[in-house]
Amino acid sequence: MSSLPNSPYSSGLEHEGATPFPAPARTPLISYRGVYKSFNDKQVLEGIDLDIYEGETLVILGRSGSGKTVMTSILVGLVQPDTGVVTVAGVDLSTLTTDYDWLELRLKTGYLFQGSALYDSMTVGENVAFPMVQHTNWSMEEISRRVHEKLAQVGLADTENLEPSALSGGMQRRAALARTLALDPQIIIYDEPTAGLDPITGDEIAHLIRRLQQTLSVTSIVVTHDLRLTETVADRLALLYQGVMVFLGTFEEFMKSDHPEVRRFLHYEIQEDKS
Ligand SMILES: Nc1ncnc2c1ncn2[C@@H]1O[C@H](COP(=O)(O)OP(=O)(O)OP(=O)(O)O)[C@@H](O)[C@H]1O
Ligand SMILES: [Mg+2]
Repeated sequence: MSSLPNSPYSSGLEHEGATPFPAPARTPLISYRGVYKSFNDKQVLEGIDLDIYEGETLVILGRSGSGKTVMTSILVGLVQPDTGVVTVAGVDLSTLTTDYDWLELRLKTGYLFQGSALYDSMTVGENVAFPMVQHTNWSMEEISRRVHEKLAQVGLADTENLEPSALSGGMQRRAALARTLALDPQIIIYDEPTAGLDPITGDEIAHLIRRLQQTLSVTSIVVTHDLRLTETVADRLALLYQGVMVFLGTFEEFMKSDHPEVRRFLHYEIQEDKS
């Protein structure tokens, strides 16, 4: 079997019956190699190897507690691996030690946090402006122009003077996404972007993420256990189970995989979708 691990043309994991496409050599934008992480003797990541390529959307699936948020938190320095190497645009993250070292990468990376709460004490517009006020010396006119632009991009034009509490759950998620886009990130991490939303609103968010992928040409990581979202946005997906990536490939390959943990995951997720 000669397919290159983690290429978009292969599952990245060797398995029977995979077609060995010769993949073009490409440098990954984000790379995990041999990453382990434990908390208080609880092993959470147990040797993660993963490459994510510029412009692709990679979905990380896994049950609650499987380490999805820990994996993405490493990319913004909120969690440090115990061993292993993580690089972003060729920079070994272990060489970044101070907040100042991290600043450039954090500005390049938009992180839609799990729950993605807006600041209640600010209007929607002030929420979106917040990262720009904090991290740039742009004029108020420029910030105001960008607030309009980002809110329009997520389908929330003319909401900037509203209080967050006046927005529905789906609209709040869009507003949080506009705030994530404020500094024109090159990498966007979405942590459970559809959690807690009804299926129709969830679909709207999924299609918004898809549209942003196409218009902004960003590299995206989407953490979820929502299969509908995965089908809409994933170029490839990884399934995390007990600290190990047990599957890496396309959505179609995932649905056909006979890996026992993939089958178990699909069984429970499909049951949940029906309920
Ligand atoms: N800062 C921390 N201190 C101690 N334990 C932690 C910390 N962060 C994460 N963990 C533990 O690591 C494990 C994985 O957590 P993580 O948040 O990555 O799960 P997840 O896959 O994102 O789950 P969910 O789908 O519920 O969000 C959990 O057992 C969690 O309790
Ligand atoms: Mg999580």
